[in-house]
Amino acid sequence: MPGSGEVRVHFVSADGARWEVAGPLGETIMDCAVDNGVPGITAQCGGGCTCSTCHCYVPSPWYERVGPAQGDEADILEFTPGRRANSRLSCQVVLRADLDGITVEIPPPTD
Ligand code: FES
Repeated sequence: MPGSGEVRVHFVSADGARWEVAGPLGETIMDCAVDNGVPGITAQCGGGCTCSTCHCYVPSPWYERVGPAQGDEADILEFTPGRRANSRLSCQVVLRADLDGITVEIPPPTD
C-alpha cells in the first residue's frame, strides 16, 4: 500500500507487461516512471516538454480526468510518432489524489 500522499500508477507496456508503482502527490507521471525504472519512458529532456520521449496513452476513464494536452504539449504531440486521441506527454501530467490507481499505457518502440 502506498503511504499517505502517494498516488498509485499502473504502467502497461505495448506487450502487456505491467508495473504497479506509486509516486508522491505533485510528482509527474514521467518522474514516477523514471524513479521506478519503468522502461519505455526515457524523458530525454528531463520534463522540459521538448522531446516527446515521455509519450504515453491514457485510457478511459482516466483520460477524461487528466484532460487533453494544451499549449506546447499539444504542439509537440502533433509531431509525435504513434500519436493517438488519448496521447499525453507524461511529464505534463501531475499526480493528484483523484488520479489514484491511474493506468498509463507505454507506446511501442518507434524505431
Ligand atoms: S520529458 Fe521531454 S517532453 Fe516530457
